[in-house]
Amino acid sequence: MRDRMKQDWNARAEKSARWFIATEDSDEAFEASGARDVELFFTGIELAAHQRVLDIGCGIGRMDRYVAPRVGSLVGVDVSGVMVAKARERLADLPNVSFLEGDGWHLPLPDGAVDLVFSHIVFQHVPRPAVRSYLAESFRVLRPGGELVFLVPEEGPGTPDDPPDDDTFEMRFYSAVRLGAELRALGFDLVDELRQEVRTELHVFQQLRVRARKPESGAVRAASASPYERTAGFCRALRVGRRILVSGTAPIGDDGRPFAPGDPGAQMRRCLEVARCAVEELGGTLAQTVRTRMFLCRLGDWNAVQAVHGEVFSRVRPVATAVLVAGLLDPAWCVEVELEVDLDATPAEVPS
Ligand SMILES: C[S@@+](CC[C@H](N)C(=O)[O-])C[C@H]1O[C@@H](n2cnc3c(N)ncnc32)[C@H](O)[C@@H]1O
Repeated sequence: MRDRMKQDWNARAEKSARWFIATEDSDEAFEASGARDVELFFTGIELAAHQRVLDIGCGIGRMDRYVAPRVGSLVGVDVSGVMVAKARERLADLPNVSFLEGDGWHLPLPDGAVDLVFSHIVFQHVPRPAVRSYLAESFRVLRPGGELVFLVPEEGPGTPDDPPDDDTFEMRFYSAVRLGAELRALGFDLVDELRQEVRTELHVFQQLRVRARKPESGAVRAASASPYERTAGFCRALRVGRRILVSGTAPIGDDGRPFAPGDPGAQMRRCLEVARCAVEELGGTLAQTVRTRMFLCRLGDWNAVQAVHGEVFSRVRPVATAVLVAGLLDPAWCVEVELEVDLDATPAEVPS
């Protein structure tokens, strides 16, 4: 599939890059289409002098000619080395632009290297597995708070099924709902969607512009003062897509020692405080908790433990389980708590 994308787009670039990019033959019409498409595509999106920008499927730099002067630096990546060579030549007068030939699948940039990733009329031609890879790669190369903006034709009545994966030109149409779910599963927040009707000889469809943001907190794992995290090899909390899972959290103080021995209420409050810090570090809040599990050694401690659970969660009302166990790792612990947080859950109120 990768070789095929490269061969096909190299051949198109040799034959007529301008035509295969924008169905334009003349230089003037091609340039004018770039200026017009940049205005349309970036509607409502701020381009600023400090931004490091990446263009996936840059072609011969049609859009980049008009984006580069408005940003700090721009890297264009394309699967076709012929397109890349032409882009370098055409935009040699712009000092803040560089072009890289990619493998059609991965982005040749380090983690967190850019503020904005965009892709204009590319994914429609690309087999879905490669697009999925680009969405994940975009998340990787964006800095926390950075944005991904791309165009895809939207699935609708009468739009055709996908061509086979070895077809590198026919259009693929996307469901906004499925795309949104995929982006959220990768960890993106959806910012907005913009639609514009397109009529070609073959199809009438909505061109969908999707804008997604990598959350400010790009962290995936959070740690706490528990000495066991290091020795037993686990983390306090882990973000998987739109969920945050918090490990069984014991009443351990910042000094790594048991907190408030013999006081189940104070220990429960401490467990939830440790969990809260971990969840917030990963971009969530306790107000988005959907499940709690409490482990106690003595039935007599339940009253104090449930009262603290009620204080914190009476408005959130997650599903909850309490289990009496034979013992916890440290005899000084009365209680241990696990949490699950769903970042798409509507935050309810939690007392601070
Ligand atoms: C229709 S052109 C659009 C070019 C440019 N985005 C524009 O709007 O002027 C599609 C571009 O995507 C590139 N392309 C196709 N498949 C690709 C892939 N898997 N990875 C990167 N670029 C790809 C092609 O080589 C071509 O330059």
